[in-house]
Amino acid sequence: MPTTPAARLQAPPPGGIRKGHRLRTAPPTVTQPIPETAARRAALAAEIADRTGLDEATLERVVRAFYAAARQDPLLGPLFARVGDWEAHIARIVAFWSSVVLLSGRYHGNPAAAHLPLGLQPQHFARWLELFERTARAACRPEGAALLADRARRIARSLALGVAARQGERPPRRIARARPAPPASS
Ligand code: HEM
Repeated sequence: MPTTPAARLQAPPPGGIRKGHRLRTAPPTVTQPIPETAARRAALAAEIADRTGLDEATLERVVRAFYAAARQDPLLGPLFARVGDWEAHIARIVAFWSSVVLLSGRYHGNPAAAHLPLGLQPQHFARWLELFERTARAACRPEGAALLADRARRIARSLALGVAARQGERPPRRIARARPAPPASS
């Protein structure tokens, strides 16, 4: 007779394994959909929208306003010249932010790879964040602008680390915080 609990679990049932031996409890069904996923996501998105004012329409407004400014910017503008189809790019970036803040799972891409060929330097990230935060403040409630700024800062930091690693450089200790800019006139 096995003595330890682990050995008892592994041991055959008393009387041995009989042909046709049935498990008394049904094995877990793996084909059933997890019922809470879609509903839970929708509830989470609704809760976030309620708390921050962020929804798909607001994100699209932020993204469009941001690129209108970024394309005019002397430092960033030339880097966006490679974008051929702006509507496709904007749709992809709205899906990205929708995934990041509304947990929609709509974005399937690789931001790290997209930025590697651009030769980005810390000043590009600082300027990008300054413009993005200013745009978000002008287009969103303070709670929404704060959430977007926080996520943008974390993602920019991770992109900057990847770019620096690829360029064989020591990564910046932090991305310089740009001076607070006045809200953009809408
Ligand atoms: C440092 C300044 C930045 C510049 C100049 C820049 C520029 C670009 C350009 C030119 C593309 C298009 C690449 C292509 O299609 O060939 C792109 C894609 C993208 N960027 Fe940036 N970017 C910057 C920072 C950021 C930051 C901080 C974020 C996020 C917080 C971001 C998010 C994205 C995303 C999600 C894509 C789409 C990647 C894909 O799925 O193809 N970018 N960016």
